[in-house]
Amino acid sequence: MRRLPGDACAAVHTRQMHERQIDRLRAAAHEARQMHWAPYSRYMVLAAVETADGRLYGGSNVEAANLTLTKHAEEVALLCALADGATSRLGRQWLKTVYVTAGQLSPPCGGCRQMLWEFADPDCLVICDTMDGDHSPLVMALTQLLPHPFGPENFGL
Ligand code: THU
Ligand code: ZN
Repeated sequence: MRRLPGDACAAVHTRQMHERQIDRLRAAAHEARQMHWAPYSRYMVLAAVETADGRLYGGSNVEAANLTLTKHAEEVALLCALADGATSRLGRQWLKTVYVTAGQLSPPCGGCRQMLWEFADPDCLVICDTMDGDHSPLVMALTQLLPHPFGPENFGL
């Protein structure tokens, strides 16, 4: 297939934009190391969420000794954005991007996918990365990870 020069430029531009965006999200997630607490699993997960107005919030997993009350990194990042007024500023579907990094590629668990969907833009992207940067990050739509979701739509919201 013949490629137009314009197409090639657009592709490079898009890739660079993604890389810059991923770098910002990675930095926000790594800042959340300061709240990390996982002495039981010793499995560090760091996350960041990006709002529709470009703000970034980081989170890490926080475990409890009874093991059942653990908070997941994605959930903590989401709650930080909510605490800073994301919904009142932007309306319900403010969540544009979710970034998650761990020792190995760790997509958000089913519970996190459901919680993220509550505030997600329909085109929300999920980026899964590794701490050592050995793999290139996986970029997926949240709707790929949570097809046919049950959510606010079921209540007409
Ligand atoms: N974990 C997360 O932070 N997010 C997920 O969606 C999957 C699991 C954390 C919880 C626990 O502290 C550790 O990973 C091992 O399950
Ligand atoms: Zn989870």
